[in-house]
Amino acid sequence: MDTMGITKIVGSACAALLVLLMLQWGAETIYHVGNDGHGEDHASAYPIEMDDAEEETKAQEEGPSFADMLAEADVEKGAKVFSKCKACHKLEAGKNGVGPSLFNIVDRAIASSEGFGYSDVVKGLGGNWGVEELNSFLTKPKDYAPGTKMSFSGLKKETDRANLISYLQTIK
Ligand code: HEC
Repeated sequence: MDTMGITKIVGSACAALLVLLMLQWGAETIYHVGNDGHGEDHASAYPIEMDDAEEETKAQEEGPSFADMLAEADVEKGAKVFSKCKACHKLEAGKNGVGPSLFNIVDRAIASSEGFGYSDVVKGLGGNWGVEELNSFLTKPKDYAPGTKMSFSGLKKETDRANLISYLQTIK
């Protein structure tokens, strides 16, 4: 009977210890979950940054942002960018040089400077030189109008194009 009593006591002590260990383990697990939750805060901060980056890229690709840039463009800086065009283009109405006169070019009909011998590709573009068309053409003329006579590599910087186009808008 005594031995059984001791066995029972030892047994229940072991069980109690086990329960204690289980509780501790459980608490640790909860603690870790809490920790992970904290980690998730960091993890979710990252995707938000990614979203911002994505939006920026989208904004660069989409049209409206060029309009925004144009709204904030610097006309005086645009006049300086125009020095790259001066060798071939005059701004006076009807005065053609190597290239056609660029008087009132924004929204002017494409290939419409009288007396200028345009290439077939530019003649075939149709429509007007709207802000978007000018933006695309001036980025890389040879991509926009393959075979164009305009031997100009293009303006890689969007700000240069926005400033230049805002300057050209004043020439009317
Ligand atoms: C090396 C000479 C040269 C340079 C530099 C040059 N262009 Fe041209 N540009 C031309 C020629 C030539 C054409 C006619 C293209 C054709 O018919 O294929 C032309 C055509 C154009 C047209 C179309 C005009 C129309 O009446 O349809 C625009 C707009 C234009 N250029 C803008 C510019 C701007 C802005 C710059 C400076 C960033 C520039 N070009 C630099 C020679 C040049």
